[in-house]
Amino acid sequence: MAPERERGVWGSKIAFILAASGSAIGLGNIWRFPMITGKSGGAIFVFIYILAVVLIGFTVLLGEITIGRFSQKNPVGAFKFIKPGTKWSLVGYLGVLTGIFILSYYAVIAGWTLGYFVKFLTGSFRGEITTDITNRIFSQFTSSPITVLIYFFVIIGITTYIISRGVKGGIERWSKILMPVLFILIILLAIRAITLPGAEKGLLFYLKPDFSKLSGKILLFAIGQAFFSLSLGMGTMITYGSYISKRDNLVTSAGWVAFSDTLIALLAGFIIFPTLFAIPGISPGEGAGLVFKVLPLVFSKLPGGIIFGALFFLLLTIAALTSTISLLEVPVAYLVDEKNWTRTQAASLTGLITFLLGIPSALSTGANSFLTKINFLGWIDFLFGNISLAIGALFICIFIGWIWGVKNASKEVEKGNPQFKIKKLWAFSVRFLSPIAVLIILIFIKTIVG
Ligand code: PHE
Repeated sequence: MAPERERGVWGSKIAFILAASGSAIGLGNIWRFPMITGKSGGAIFVFIYILAVVLIGFTVLLGEITIGRFSQKNPVGAFKFIKPGTKWSLVGYLGVLTGIFILSYYAVIAGWTLGYFVKFLTGSFRGEITTDITNRIFSQFTSSPITVLIYFFVIIGITTYIISRGVKGGIERWSKILMPVLFILIILLAIRAITLPGAEKGLLFYLKPDFSKLSGKILLFAIGQAFFSLSLGMGTMITYGSYISKRDNLVTSAGWVAFSDTLIALLAGFIIFPTLFAIPGISPGEGAGLVFKVLPLVFSKLPGGIIFGALFFLLLTIAALTSTISLLEVPVAYLVDEKNWTRTQAASLTGLITFLLGIPSALSTGANSFLTKINFLGWIDFLFGNISLAIGALFICIFIGWIWGVKNASKEVEKGNPQFKIKKLWAFSVRFLSPIAVLIILIFIKTIVG
């Protein structure tokens, strides 16, 4: 029997695009992108971010799904399959580890999102909403250890359950129905935010780059955010690519994923920054609480805002779940493929470990003063969500460009796309541009973080 059939394969090209976009689109777009843009001076970051997605993110994305489809394996197995008996499978192991650590705090934020859904339903945001109110509600919420831990636990639980039920039943169904609804809501909110009186200042902050502000930090964060948002550098897209049929066009598939992911992030900025400047009281550099403090303000300016608010946070929770699923899928696929565990065993154990690892993150936004002071969640996010993904992406580029070889990789791409028009450009980026850019950033990391 063909390995395709044993492991399961996406029902169609669209199914892959939807599932991969489901992985890509999540808190990275709506929580992390505005947070980092706000901290990094606005438009200049946005400009560099778009460049990073087009030049580097797309390169690595196409590379990962190519490795995945060629090997039809999880990240560890894929490297072992292509270069047996070498140390390259370490890149896969790094991905397994990174997935668990990212999930450990990502699920905490997803828990906040679920908590905000409940808050909208139970009337916390009724009546006139000011920045004082949103500030207070946020800090009360995130500093209650029990509340935060329960929501965090629920997210891990749902993720574990869906993953244990397998590829198709779990992932495909969710992404198909719900992404379009979320998209419409985001457009609606962006329109409302842009038309608020006083929104211009926010638009300037978001769209008019000041090139004198360009710095190593902005480059590092932009590249890191491109990897994070596109789910790159830890093998998620290798895993998802492993379920793509040989007939599908990898280039256009990757293009659609990168396009929709970037569109959603950019739209999120159009909601947050105009609102932030139109209703003063919250700083753009606010950090992890930014969108949770700003979004309720937009809803209060919308007829039926409570309903829209509840719906939005529900859909955002689901968007986050399609990402948490993809994070857990990497360690689980590894244990199932390489160690012959059942999906249920693998999902339960990794889910439990992730929960334990995430407890300090959950307590680091007010509940525990020490963890809050050292900004535990911020550091884990920086180390795993930025650095570790960058290291993974660097090795993936080197692997494709210099070890497996662009020629061999291109043969796989050409299976569903005989012309492969951008072959030369991709080869240049995967061999030189992307790895060199990432390497320089990593070498200077100490000076950059300072
Ligand atoms: N891309 C996801 C998001 O933007 C997060 C993620 C990162 C998922 C890495 C998988 C792997 O929310």
